[in-house]
Amino acid sequence: MIASACATEFFACSESLRALRELVKRGVGTNGRIRLRTHLSVGTGLNRVYLPSGVEWLPLEPEVAHHASILSRDPGATILSAPAEAIPLGDESVDAVISSLVLCSVGEPDRVLKEILRVLKPGGCLVFLEHVAAPRGTLLARIQTLVQPVWTWLSGGCHPDRETGRLLRQTGFALVEWEELRLPVPIVSPHLFGRAFKKS
Ligand SMILES: C[S@@+](CC[C@H](N)C(=O)[O-])C[C@H]1O[C@@H](n2cnc3c(N)ncnc32)[C@H](O)[C@@H]1O
Repeated sequence: MIASACATEFFACSESLRALRELVKRGVGTNGRIRLRTHLSVGTGLNRVYLPSGVEWLPLEPEVAHHASILSRDPGATILSAPAEAIPLGDESVDAVISSLVLCSVGEPDRVLKEILRVLKPGGCLVFLEHVAAPRGTLLARIQTLVQPVWTWLSGGCHPDRETGRLLRQTGFALVEWEELRLPVPIVSPHLFGRAFKKS
């Protein structure tokens, strides 16, 4: 738990969330079309400040220890205290979902993506920023596989070797697009940030 709070601090200070903010602006707009968003697993809520104003923010975070911190950043927030594998929202109930550095940490990323598809309205959008496995066959990919058990244990659940791009393409979104980003960090430098749209 402490490890994941530290990770949150680290990533919130990084360029990656600024990139996410740009993507959110471009991807889902702030002109009133979006009535509700879920932002999966906000951690301590630090990255709330990177989201545009004027949208309804619905944070999901199963780790209760983070809730006070989330509320200190947005006292009116309704926190969904549940795992992303079982989002407590109805079918086709949200316009957009934002996932930043979450799919590396969840127990069942394929189930989480199916849940996201379920809660998104037709034409809705998942905006994501995730660190991912290095391309197969590379030295970094081998290192990621090698260190994964210790890395996951030390970080409180993070997997450095998840092929999240592949999973996104297999889940049933109508369109998945991303940009690749290399952050100057060891082991988990390859990132994808992009959008996945549900069929209209
Ligand atoms: C690396 S932190 C990222 C936090 C935040 N999204 C950010 O960008 O700073 C990973 C987060 O995933 C959460 N998490 C772990 N397992 C989860 C699950 N099954 N469902 C939802 N969130 C989960 C952790 O509590 C933690 O807040």
